[in-house]
Amino acid sequence: MDNKFSVYIETYGCQMNLSDTEIVSRIIFNAGYEIVDTPKKANVILLNTCSVRENAERKVNERLLHLKKFKELEKPVILGVLGCMAERLRSRILEKNSNVDIVVGPDEYRKIPELIQNAFLGEKGIAVKLSRVETYDDLEPLRKEGISAWISIMRGCDKFCTYCVVPYTRGRERSRRMQSVVDEVKKLCDEGFKEVTLLGQNVNSYKCPETNSDFADLLRECARQVPSMRIRFITSHPQDMSDKLIETIAEWDNICKYIHLPIQSGSDRILQLMNRNYTYEHYLGRINKIRSLIPNCALSTDIIVGFPTETLEDHQATLRALKEIRFDGAYMFRYSPREHTKAFKMVDDVPEKEKIRRLNEVIDLQNKISKEINLGEHNRIHIVLVEGPSKKDKTYWAGRTDTNKVTIFKPGKDTAVGDFVKVKIKNSTSATLFGEIVQ
Ligand code: SAH
Ligand code: SF4
Ligand code: F3S
Repeated sequence: MDNKFSVYIETYGCQMNLSDTEIVSRIIFNAGYEIVDTPKKANVILLNTCSVRENAERKVNERLLHLKKFKELEKPVILGVLGCMAERLRSRILEKNSNVDIVVGPDEYRKIPELIQNAFLGEKGIAVKLSRVETYDDLEPLRKEGISAWISIMRGCDKFCTYCVVPYTRGRERSRRMQSVVDEVKKLCDEGFKEVTLLGQNVNSYKCPETNSDFADLLRECARQVPSMRIRFITSHPQDMSDKLIETIAEWDNICKYIHLPIQSGSDRILQLMNRNYTYEHYLGRINKIRSLIPNCALSTDIIVGFPTETLEDHQATLRALKEIRFDGAYMFRYSPREHTKAFKMVDDVPEKEKIRRLNEVIDLQNKISKEINLGEHNRIHIVLVEGPSKKDKTYWAGRTDTNKVTIFKPGKDTAVGDFVKVKIKNSTSATLFGEIVQ
């Protein structure tokens, strides 16, 4: 068998997975294989999967069924499952889907070329060991051209929120060396990238294994050494949101004034059952500190409704928190029990219909708040990083403000992708700003 494999990868789940797909692409590329952009052109199809909620897994299972048709063609096609579902379900994936040939967890991606070769020889393969040290630090992600890049600065999670599958699918928390991250930012700048997003499940518990530098140190070094780069980061945990970190964000113009800080619930009783390790009061204290040092900082959050034993009173506390804090945006979910987590042993006692009702209630409230906040943006001027023609109408272009709001505007004659333009906001919805370029 010759080595000319053409590989197509499809990505589900969070930004960590998008970033991992770029690492897998590098591994595959270094092995001499070609990366293609449709399953039709491929003889290896890989799905990089997510397990965070049942729905995420359902999507992948449906896709696997759909991809069966590629296995029925004359040419041999290898089908692989990577990522969090691979780690969570392991051999169960092979047992359930006779079409799947390889199953590879997040810490074993270096084995993919070998597993593909063996699969073509008829041997199914599974590699799902988690590692305490693997960070793929030495591999430069194979990125698509563009202006905005992801950089994974750490892997895994040690927080063990009781509802969450991530510590089981991604293993123990480990950070990359600070110097290697800063070097990557410099290199991306030389290549023409204008924005980087530092990624981790809890970026603010980052700790350099060489120097013990913390996340504030890392941010500062990136900002100082590459002053023209816009620097973003997700996700922060409320427990590790130190004053030093907030001061660092405030101090550097090129660190974006946008913080995603999942609250999950407004009820202390539920927060405790979730093992979030903070109270609402602590959370609010962090928000107030952020707002006092960074007055225009945009804030977003995650909410879970219908956690086991959540009463109407607990739910009201979440609604009250949303009203009191007034986030710019929120990702809102209904609780989905995940096998092996602590919460899985609790009784999932909020009926599905009630979860949906509570979810709609938080969504409606949050939309109203986002809309009101965006009305307040009218006539303000934002510096927007130009991303290119907007999806809906190509005569308009899209970009993002420093505060991470998608902004639509008419491009000038010389407007180019990657430019920073000043846009005066004229109109808005709950999710989007509309404006005009001003000089
Ligand atoms: N590390 C990040 C994000 C983890 S997953 C953090 O700690 O915030 C993203 C979001 O999915 C979580 O913030 C949570 O709101 C949601 N989530 C995780 N597990 C879930 C579950 N079992 N059911 C519903 N939502 C869940
Ligand atoms: Fe999951 Fe909690 Fe870790 Fe976030 S902090 S990945 S919610 S266990
Ligand atoms: Fe999903 Fe794994 Fe990310 S479970 S949210 S892809 S870390």
